[in-house]
Amino acid sequence: ITAYVNGQYVPLAEARVSPMDRGFLFGDGAYEVIPVYSRRAFRIDEHVARLANTLAAMRLANPHGAEEWKAIIGEIVARNPWDDQSVYLQVTRGADTRRNHAFPGPEVAPTVFLMSEPLVTPTAEQLATGVSAASAADIRWLRCDLKTVSMLANCLLRQHAIDKGCAETVLFRDSFLTEGAASSIFVCKDGVLLVPPKSHLMLPGITYDVVLELARTHGMAHEVREVLEAEVRSADELWMTSSTKEVLPITSLDGQPVGTGQPGPMGRQMYAWYQEFKQ
Ligand code: PDD
Repeated sequence: ITAYVNGQYVPLAEARVSPMDRGFLFGDGAYEVIPVYSRRAFRIDEHVARLANTLAAMRLANPHGAEEWKAIIGEIVARNPWDDQSVYLQVTRGADTRRNHAFPGPEVAPTVFLMSEPLVTPTAEQLATGVSAASAADIRWLRCDLKTVSMLANCLLRQHAIDKGCAETVLFRDSFLTEGAASSIFVCKDGVLLVPPKSHLMLPGITYDVVLELARTHGMAHEVREVLEAEVRSADELWMTSSTKEVLPITSLDGQPVGTGQPGPMGRQMYAWYQEFKQ
């Protein structure tokens, strides 16, 4: 596996960053996960733009312009052996000589790290049966729109699902749906696709945008509005979406069947549109 650290392409096993790196000490960094199909990075402009937004909100100067980012990502894809990949990209505020919460001076350069893994999308069996989810209160901070590496809450929330034998945790804040621990959540009720609007309480998912675009293009009824916990619990279908999970049906929530307990027709339709679109 070839990785990239601050301008150098190196075997992942030889990649090194300092323990003084603020990503390590403070979780002070931004990241992206970009799916690659047949050696083409999917929605790369949108991922690079979201990274720029996260860095701007962090007040960290973007070390590369969009074209440079696309070249580095392309090089990582080319130097790794798989046609379908999941490229991980991280930028931290770099390594200072002292531990200090406040930002370092301009002499400290950000740390840029990329690696790639084989892309693992849901199995045929997961698609056929759907996956189980647990729910939990959304204990994260108030800037969930930023894709930062400060991920302790997300890790705790995803582990909550695993401990319950589930694949994902569906998060509620004040009785409203936000998203999943590492995915966006869509709800189908009476033939209408429902999803909460983008806000500081959720990540603006790249897959979220693709799904809404596909719903618009193909004329699937949809509403972008606040979704009540009660509506999630009485949904006909639930889906989780992300760059690696694509569109995956959730067929049980907290041990209760979602709708019929089987993947539903709207999810199958959206999955098919997504598969066609991603090529
Ligand atoms: N996670 N919400 C959260 C909290 C996420 O972590 C993710 C993605 C999403 C979906 O975003 P997108 O469609 O842009 O992948 C929503 C990535 C895949 C991860 O952390 O591995």
